[in-house]
Amino acid sequence: MKKIIVAIDGPAASGKGTLARNLAGKLNLAHMDTGALYRAVAFEVSKAGLSVRDKKDAIAAAKTLRKKIEGAEYPADILGRPVLKEDRFGRDASVIAVIPEVREILADLQKDFAHAPGEGFAGAVLDGRDIGTVICPEADAKLYIIADTEIRAQRRMKELQSKGISVTYDAVLDDMRKRDARDEGRKTAPLTPAADAVLLDTTHLSESEALERALEIVREILP
Ligand code: DC
Repeated sequence: MKKIIVAIDGPAASGKGTLARNLAGKLNLAHMDTGALYRAVAFEVSKAGLSVRDKKDAIAAAKTLRKKIEGAEYPADILGRPVLKEDRFGRDASVIAVIPEVREILADLQKDFAHAPGEGFAGAVLDGRDIGTVICPEADAKLYIIADTEIRAQRRMKELQSKGISVTYDAVLDDMRKRDARDEGRKTAPLTPAADAVLLDTTHLSESEALERALEIVREILP
């Protein structure tokens, strides 16, 4: 049977990651959080004591990461490291993500995953910023997840506080606005809905309501 590809895009803390994970569980899909790739590049740069502002260093770090993932028995272990969730790596990932060469180095990993999710899976779901537009324009179903900026900032603040990280709402909101502007404003693969994506606003939805709505949408679209 033909395997399916589901593309989920949207801004930070829109709920796309949780939704992708839940959808993967329900539909037996392999899941890739593509933001973790960019975060892992930021992590490599920081570990080497280099700067994300240096294009050359970021490209070298992306190549190192690609090699590690290609050589790993369980690439999911590399991308699932809790340290990558730290806010500083999200911020640095957004800075690195404007570099076209870095995006290109990471693109094949994502495309390969989408087309060969592994035996036993019905297909793949990838969440990120450019999955429906650049990585998998051929995806069977595309969702674009949005939520009010203030709600997203509140979600992110609670997430950080639950990990014992002390932050203020204003700082998180400010950071989120900067990140949105960078992700939407970059020249290469900016955050934008694909023309054939279905919009899902999670502002007033719980996790399970968002999943229910997404399942309805995906089941309607799927071949
Ligand atoms: O989804 P996230 O917060 O983990 O993503 C971190 C950053 O990585 C995000 O601000 C922009 C970048 N990113 C990207 O440019 N393209 C993707 N497909 C995924 C993430």
